[in-house]
Amino acid sequence: MQTLEPYDVVILGAGAAGLLCAATAGKRGRRVLLLDKADKIGKKILISGGGRCNFTNLHVNPAAYLSQNPHFCKSALARYTPADFLDLMRKHSLSWHEKTLGQLFCDQKAPAIVEMLWAECRDAGVHLRLNTEIQAISRATERFHLQTTQGAFQTTALVIATGGPSIPRMGATDFGIHVAKQFGLKNIPFSPALVPFTFTQTMLDGLFAGLAGVSTPVAVSCGEGYFREDMLFTHRGLSGPAMLQISSYWQKGAAVQIDLLPGRDALSWLQTLQKQRPKAELKTVLADVLPNRLAQRLCETVFPNRPLGQYGDKLLQSIAEQLHAWELTPAGTEGMRTAEVSLGGVDTRELSSKTLEARHVPGLYFIGETVDVTGWLGGYNFQWAWASGWCAGQYV
Ligand code: FDA
Repeated sequence: MQTLEPYDVVILGAGAAGLLCAATAGKRGRRVLLLDKADKIGKKILISGGGRCNFTNLHVNPAAYLSQNPHFCKSALARYTPADFLDLMRKHSLSWHEKTLGQLFCDQKAPAIVEMLWAECRDAGVHLRLNTEIQAISRATERFHLQTTQGAFQTTALVIATGGPSIPRMGATDFGIHVAKQFGLKNIPFSPALVPFTFTQTMLDGLFAGLAGVSTPVAVSCGEGYFREDMLFTHRGLSGPAMLQISSYWQKGAAVQIDLLPGRDALSWLQTLQKQRPKAELKTVLADVLPNRLAQRLCETVFPNRPLGQYGDKLLQSIAEQLHAWELTPAGTEGMRTAEVSLGGVDTRELSSKTLEARHVPGLYFIGETVDVTGWLGGYNFQWAWASGWCAGQYV
């Protein structure tokens, strides 16, 4: 096959990380080619945040990222911050609003973010080819050679920005890991994160019956994870931000601990009510602080329902304890089909945290979700994509 014009940089994947990397490298005068197998750029950006793109978070810090090496993300996150991305938005007259917990959404919606990134690429002279499948990658005489369905290309720097395999119906794959393996780099297998939990049919027909659609604020913990957000009952199990967040810390067989009354001392609250309203039933008083259906269900399946005056001290204490530490063991998760991101990726020990270049394969870079760095829900993952893309863009 004929070898086309050589490039300084070829970036595989025109998603969040690839687009910012391309624009950054192009502005440095590098001849950049951006390849993507999809028919349009930034598909995950377009569907993110319910179409409004939760593009960053004001509270970005390394503790909000999961990785086998929690220090790896520090350098990139410190060098390209949420404020840097906001400067870019201002330059393109885009505005934003904070929804909750530092989450920033674009007022002009997700397509405006993709248009902004593409405008940056276009102004930097980046070439783009869509609908391009990568058939083979090889390296010889310090250059990478790519065979694709759109011809052959050569480059001195090859950036893998093909993301993770969550939402496979969008064409997402673990391509990045295959490239890493080809060049002898270690990886941590991808697994679903920020994903709803599923429960056994017995649980769904019993404890959870009739609760689908009910949402309540909770504090949830599992392993090292702890989040205070909303929990949502679904037809398959549990979702909502609290459960999505904790799913990243969950391992099969483990229980999640749910505080249904965060910030309230359940025992002293129940003891006070016992004195004030001894004839009131537990399900009635619980319905004052929990969604009615959940209060009813708890009193049908978990707690014995009686007038408060009929509970002894021990039972009241045990109810209070369960309200603060309700333990549920999910059967599994909905998997990559609905996961917002994936844990795992290229082992960070193989990469420079400054440049994102493979330590033993000069010229090969990995950025974004392909790398073993996974953020919390709420704009953290895009910030990692921007930061890692920008940093690699300085060195390619
Ligand atoms: P990204 O997935 O963006 O891009 C990868 C690109 O590579 C794609 O364009 C793909 O077509 C291409 N590609 C894949 N394989 C290829 C191959 N073999 N050859 C060529 N090209 C290939 N995060 C956040 O911070 N805030 C939010 O609001 C949301 N919301 C959200 C909603 C939903 C439904 C999902 C699925 C995800 C989110 N996320 C999010 C996560 C966020 O989308 C994700 O972390 C980033 O898009 C990752 O950026 P990357 O550039 O690494 O991959």
